[in-house]
Amino acid sequence: MKIFLDTADLDEIRRAASANLIDGITTNPSLLASSAGERDPQEIFLEICETVEGPISAEVVAVDADGMVAEGRRLAKIHPNIVVKVPLTEDGLRACRELRDEGTRVNVTLCFSTTQALLAAKAGATYISPFVGRLDDVGHEGMEIVAEIRQVYDRYGLETEILAASLRHPRHVLEALLIGADCATLPPKVLYQLMKHPHTDSGLERFLADWKTLNREL
Ligand code: E4P
Repeated sequence: MKIFLDTADLDEIRRAASANLIDGITTNPSLLASSAGERDPQEIFLEICETVEGPISAEVVAVDADGMVAEGRRLAKIHPNIVVKVPLTEDGLRACRELRDEGTRVNVTLCFSTTQALLAAKAGATYISPFVGRLDDVGHEGMEIVAEIRQVYDRYGLETEILAASLRHPRHVLEALLIGADCATLPPKVLYQLMKHPHTDSGLERFLADWKTLNREL
């Protein structure tokens, strides 16, 4: 399963990329708004592309299909690794098909049901992003739609990759792995939680304390 980092924060991106922990980046307008400051978003996308080797999702903000296509074309010109992200609306699906036909990869976002995911696949999406945590927030078992989409895509031979999104904790990541999601996008906090275990910390502490009693160098 590919791991993407869900952020537009360049410090976090550099940290994860230099440790070879990630296969790509996803962003959304809220993430850009929280870290862009005075900088031009296009410049940020370019810097992200130059930092991480892999797909970089950049989202349109137009709500009509023509506007999304125009923005998508501009975003796609920034770098060959840009994946244009469009919302799962009727206009978003029209834009998805048009951009796909021009050779641009599209990530269809804000997916909350399996039937939406079917339509995204039929529109030629490269990725579908089901939002697990936001479904959990409103009393659903968000991961169930990831499992359903996996079942439907496999049964009908649909090649769109499932990108489990809105993941809030390591358990979500494990469940996505067990279901067979193709990718998962994680906020930085969850990425680092994946490598932490209290027994690793206490075990290391103990090894170092014991080693100190030897009073030698390696
Ligand atoms: C995915 O592409 C979205 O950017 C993201 O996963 C949304 O997560 P949130 O529900 O925690 O905002």
